[in-house]
Amino acid sequence: MTRRQLIVIGGGEHAAVVVDAARSAPDRWELVGFSDPDPGPDAEARLGLPWLGDDQAVASRPVEGGSDKPSLVLGIGLSVAARRAAVDAFGTASWAVIVHAAAWVSPSATLGPGTVVLAGAVVNASATLGRHTIVNSRAVVEHDVELGDFAHAGPGAVIGGGARIGDDAFIGLGGLVRDHLSVGRGAIVGMGSVVVDDVAPGAVVAGSPARQIRSDVAVGDAAIPVAADRA
Ligand SMILES: CC(C)(COP(=O)(O)OP(=O)(O)OC[C@H]1O[C@@H](n2cnc3c(N)ncnc32)[C@H](O)[C@@H]1OP(=O)(O)O)[C@@H](O)C(=O)NCCC(=O)NCCS
Repeated sequence: MTRRQLIVIGGGEHAAVVVDAARSAPDRWELVGFSDPDPGPDAEARLGLPWLGDDQAVASRPVEGGSDKPSLVLGIGLSVAARRAAVDAFGTASWAVIVHAAAWVSPSATLGPGTVVLAGAVVNASATLGRHTIVNSRAVVEHDVELGDFAHAGPGAVIGGGARIGDDAFIGLGGLVRDHLSVGRGAIVGMGSVVVDDVAPGAVVAGSPARQIRSDVAVGDAAIPVAADRA
């Protein structure tokens, strides 16, 4: 298997998890460093990687003679707007698909460029994952699920067979989505929620059974609210 150089875009909390996933496959990825416009003082130590500058610095990095340009992967987690902006800024970059060595991905599943599948996750038969999707730790994406571009199955989420999760949508920690339902573009399913009906685009639903608690999320611009001290 050819080993490729890899640069992580963003040096925050999610980046550390993505770095661990790449490190679990050392025959596949050689980590070069990370970009961040404003890394915290401990970012290099936390990621165990050198800071390469902001995205501009990474985009204009000279390529060593004879080698390929490094692949990129997003280390930005919860802000869809920031994730999309970073991808747009790099234009035609080569985006890596990172699968943690302790994840299971069916050979019949399709993973779009930039997708990361984290430790303990399962992506089952004939699932179709779009660009820059995240299947977070121990999430289960069942057979025939369609996960749209930039969609994110949070840690421990379970998405039932044949469900369709729209672009930019987010299923929170431990959320359950019944098989064959649709979760609309940019919708947010709260942690621990049980989705038993289709979710409208841009809706925020929570609870068991999940009910709409907000509808003011701009579709395509969803930033998932996190605990205040982590925003
Ligand atoms: C659903 C969520 C996005 C709502 O966030 P918010 O808009 O800031 O909402 P609030 O915390 O102000 O809560 C609004 C109401 O919904 C309730 N609520 C919030 N999240 C809920 C949940 N997951 N299940 C049930 N009820 C919930 C609150 O208790 C509150 O009820 P009240 O009005 O009766 O007091 C958020 O709670 C959530 O689940 N985020 C996902 C976290 C996550 O998965 N992180 C992953 C990190 S890797």
